[in-house]
Amino acid sequence: MLSWDEFDKPEEGQTTAQPASAPNAAAQGLEHLDGQAAGIVQQARAVAADDSAAVARAKAALNALDIQEGLDELEGSSARVQVGDKQMINARADLNQLVPFKYDWAWQKYLDGCANHWMPQEVNMTADIALWKSQDGLSEDERRIVKRNLGFFSTADSLVANNLVLAVYRLITNPECRQYILRQAFEEAIHTHAYQYCIESLGMDEGEIFNMYHEIPSVAKKASWGLKYTRSISDPMFNTGTVETDKEFLRNLIAYYCVLEGIFFYCGFTQILSMGRRNKMTGTAEQFQYILRDESMHLNFGIDVINQIKIENPHLWDDAMKDEATQMILQGTQLEIEYARDTMPRGVLGMNAAMMEDYLKFIANRRLTQIGLKEEYPGTTNPFPWMSEIMDLKKEKNFFETRVIEYQTGGALSWD
Ligand SMILES: [Fe+2]
Ligand SMILES: [Fe+2]
Repeated sequence: MLSWDEFDKPEEGQTTAQPASAPNAAAQGLEHLDGQAAGIVQQARAVAADDSAAVARAKAALNALDIQEGLDELEGSSARVQVGDKQMINARADLNQLVPFKYDWAWQKYLDGCANHWMPQEVNMTADIALWKSQDGLSEDERRIVKRNLGFFSTADSLVANNLVLAVYRLITNPECRQYILRQAFEEAIHTHAYQYCIESLGMDEGEIFNMYHEIPSVAKKASWGLKYTRSISDPMFNTGTVETDKEFLRNLIAYYCVLEGIFFYCGFTQILSMGRRNKMTGTAEQFQYILRDESMHLNFGIDVINQIKIENPHLWDDAMKDEATQMILQGTQLEIEYARDTMPRGVLGMNAAMMEDYLKFIANRRLTQIGLKEEYPGTTNPFPWMSEIMDLKKEKNFFETRVIEYQTGGALSWD
């Protein structure tokens, strides 16, 4: 076989350049190059004609390769995709063709997600570092809130990302929704990055923070509740297609979109954003503000997916399933109330656990009605109306002025 090194070797009978007088040196050099060129041509011809054992084996393997299965698969999807063929689950339409769109809202959410791109390093953490390291900048209760929330969120976003990539993506059989899920998965990576960035900037004990989901009961309970709903559908052998498996997948979507991203994040978001409103830990609060904006889009996407599955498969949404979905949301609310009590043993930042309980019941009512169920806490009002305003960042005129780093653009890449 030839190797690249051989192209550098002089041809037989030819020697490398010898010391020569100046007038002869150029002529000898040209002769040498000439000889090398002839050698290269000769060897290239040998490569082209090469029918070595390895090449022969490769050709034979290609001839024997059973590509019929692949051709059959393409045959099955050879008809042009019609919008009517597309379905949220169990679709037979070709998943490699993005258009024509059936769910325009999913594509729009993908575009909106891309338009809201941000990176954790853009946020200035200087004031947070100074405050966190000062002796009397924050009370013990405030420090507890920062640590608990970084502990919960740093692993919760990984749970959400793993569930998306290892389970949900495969089972959603619609290309425009998959496109959004890919975007969401990257946003979850950015969120985990943001928490890591805060933990590192503040010089926290990483082992302590990242292990809270094992070691702190109020955090561990939320994580294990979520894990319960991803276990079976993350099995590569799991598939939808029967009433039972379709319901199992629906349970997962309700657990992750309505409860994890729709309830479990809200006590922490409210606490950290309340801190920012009081001019404390403003960098951390700004990170959470960006994350909250992403999360409200994830939640809305999930609600749309769940409702679309219900429309396309009304037999799944029977009384038993409605009761189960209600129970899941109520359990999630209860776990979040316990988390509020653990993170706020006393009143802090103008709020307390009782107020947070009202807020979480208000949120639970929203989640229930968003998927067509009835409110379980009628008459509950929102004690933190400012949260809804924060979620709509377009109202925050100066928000983007706090960004400190420009995006790296293609022009900054070097090919050297
Ligand atoms: Fe997230
Ligand atoms: Fe999310």
